[in-house]
Amino acid sequence: MSWYRNTVWFVKGLREYTRGGYESASKHFNPADVEVDVAGRSFLVTGANSGIGKATAKEIARRGGTVHLVCRNRERAEVAKEEIVTETGNQNIFLHIVDISNPKEIWKFAEKFRNEHKLNVLKPGELGVLNYLEVKQIEYQLSDCRTYIMTTALVPLLEKAADARVITVSSGGMLVQKLNISDLQSENGPFDGTMVYAQNKRQQVVLTEQWAKAHRNIHFSVMHPGWADTPAVRSSMPDFYERMKNSLRTDAQGADTVLWLAVSAEAAKLPSGLFFQDRQPVSTHLPLAYTHSPPEDEEKLMEVLEEFSQKFKSVSPRM
Ligand SMILES: NC(=O)c1ccc[n+]([C@@H]2O[C@H](COP(=O)([O-])OP(=O)(O)OC[C@H]3O[C@@H](n4cnc5c(N)ncnc54)[C@H](OP(=O)(O)O)[C@@H]3O)[C@@H](O)[C@H]2O)c1
Repeated sequence: MSWYRNTVWFVKGLREYTRGGYESASKHFNPADVEVDVAGRSFLVTGANSGIGKATAKEIARRGGTVHLVCRNRERAEVAKEEIVTETGNQNIFLHIVDISNPKEIWKFAEKFRNEHKLNVLKPGELGVLNYLEVKQIEYQLSDCRTYIMTTALVPLLEKAADARVITVSSGGMLVQKLNISDLQSENGPFDGTMVYAQNKRQQVVLTEQWAKAHRNIHFSVMHPGWADTPAVRSSMPDFYERMKNSLRTDAQGADTVLWLAVSAEAAKLPSGLFFQDRQPVSTHLPLAYTHSPPEDEEKLMEVLEEFSQKFKSVSPRM
């Protein structure tokens, strides 16, 4: 089955996830969808100093939004902020230094942010491919506790906002994995970074569907950026990069659907909880791949993440 899924997925990827796939899909885009002024709206973007995060932050800044950049390295973050301010002329760009691999730091950051800012749109705490492949500590493998904590902690702020949205950057790689509720921390068997990554990206899809049901005032989406030429892809998948480098999307092409979901009125007209690729809702399963989960597994994921995330919350006496 895994051979079948991987082959179907890769063939689909060659057709749809490449730069050619983007160029062909974009013929059906309506440019007016993203020609909007978002002045007065507040956006929080993680991974904002590089790749898809930075491209998203820059395009939002160009449209007048207030952008909160969440990054882990002050030096790289300052350089990105300077670039965004200089290129867009938007001064409402704010920096927050948070190591998202540390769940305690996310709780702390989100608590402070809630007290000090307003928020309309959140792109929560997912990391690059590299991190999943590097990080082997068991606690981190249940890594969608990061997306879970960042989103859960900021939902109260979003609930107060007009036209609130959450956009999570998943990956088409999740299509090859069925949610594995019996081994959420990937403890069984040898560590397989690619599988852990795909499981986490599958979890983000399930989380988005569950949040959409639970929080009707917020519009949740999850998306696949396609295969984009970013530092994460270059360093974590060198063989793939070597083979595909002439066909990869630019970071801006990878970020296009994040931007569309974040700013366009059209996106908000679609139901909450969907998975997007190139501005279209698409299936979360490959044909005949048997990756559907029973509803009780999806509910169980939420319970486990809630319980798991609470362990890190207790460190902050005010929460
Ligand atoms: N590129 C693709 O083809 C592709 C395909 C599918 C999905 N995605 C998803 O797209 C998202 C963005 O990836 P990308 O390709 O744009 O990679 P990227 O250019 O390497 O960006 C990743 C960002 O995450 C930040 N980050 C990493 N670890 C962090 C931590 N512990 N705390 C805070 N920030 C941290 C990085 O900061 P530093 O600069 O400090 O490392 C960087 O800004 C990821 O979720 C990835 O899985 C990408």
